[in-house]
Amino acid sequence: MEDSGLKRVVVTGGNTGIGFALCKQLLTEDNCFVYLCSRNQERGTAAVAEIQAAYPAHKERIHLVLVDTSVPDSIVAAAEAVREHLGTHKLYAIVNNAGVGLATRTSKQALLDTNFWGPKRMVDAFMPMLQDAGRVVHVGSGAGPMWLKKQSEDEIKFLSTEHTWEELEQFVIKRMATTDDFGDYGLSKSALACLGMTQARVYPSITFSTVSPGFINTKLVAGFGATKPPEEGTVSIRHCLFQPLPGNGWFWGSDAKRSPLHTTRDPGTPEYKGE
Ligand SMILES: NC(=O)c1ccc[n+]([C@@H]2O[C@H](COP(=O)([O-])OP(=O)(O)OC[C@H]3O[C@@H](n4cnc5c(N)ncnc54)[C@H](OP(=O)(O)O)[C@@H]3O)[C@@H](O)[C@H]2O)c1
Repeated sequence: MEDSGLKRVVVTGGNTGIGFALCKQLLTEDNCFVYLCSRNQERGTAAVAEIQAAYPAHKERIHLVLVDTSVPDSIVAAAEAVREHLGTHKLYAIVNNAGVGLATRTSKQALLDTNFWGPKRMVDAFMPMLQDAGRVVHVGSGAGPMWLKKQSEDEIKFLSTEHTWEELEQFVIKRMATTDDFGDYGLSKSALACLGMTQARVYPSITFSTVSPGFINTKLVAGFGATKPPEEGTVSIRHCLFQPLPGNGWFWGSDAKRSPLHTTRDPGTPEYKGE
């Protein structure tokens, strides 16, 4: 296998939607080796086969990894499988894309496990394999700030500043007891962005970013009227994977511009400058 300049990237929830589009782009446009993760063997196998059939020249550069990011043991097993496959190589990046939303949720706990605890556990398990100056991209949502800006002043302040993992986890456990369905999703994505800030401090040699992909037509928002194809949901993810970034732990809008956590910022409006 040709190896010069190859970047090895793990993408969770890679079998469909934005994750699947990203896997294709990483493979064909970004000179990456892709670990396409799926929680389901059949869907994962079909996704890898579809990509290999479409791009036979790159078919040795994609590998299926089974992982249900809501299940801690599944993450540990996936990390072990990737470690064995990597051999002496290192990972360039992890994209925590797997998520559930209003149209795909099963329960409050499963949603928070997938959208919030999953990315934390993925980073914990995969960190030893990441190269120096590697990258982690959490796929967040504009629904994070959209929800947060309507909460109390104390909550807005808490979730838009950095904390220890223990403080953040305790906040989420307490707050999720009273969130409604949209609140579950908004809380999970606000807390995910806050997690990115925390991880940036804990692992300063790695650049963490949380991104909003935009309003994209996938099964996660089925019935809500999104029209943009999944390929347009990767702009900010790829920016945060490959461009020089001036800050660590930042939140990015779908236009690849820095955005605030405490309030919404529409794509195309001036970039958030921080406080
Ligand atoms: N679409 C939008 O407008 C939008 C907006 C803001 C943010 N996002 C975020 O973008 C990310 C990708 O979503 P999408 O729109 O592409 O939705 P999608 O088409 O439903 O894809 C979600 C992916 O995550 C996987 N997944 C769900 N739960 C999982 C779990 N417990 N373990 C492992 N994989 C799991 C799904 O697997 P299965 O195929 O097995 O279900 C699927 O591969 C999510 O984090 C979502 O919150 C999307």
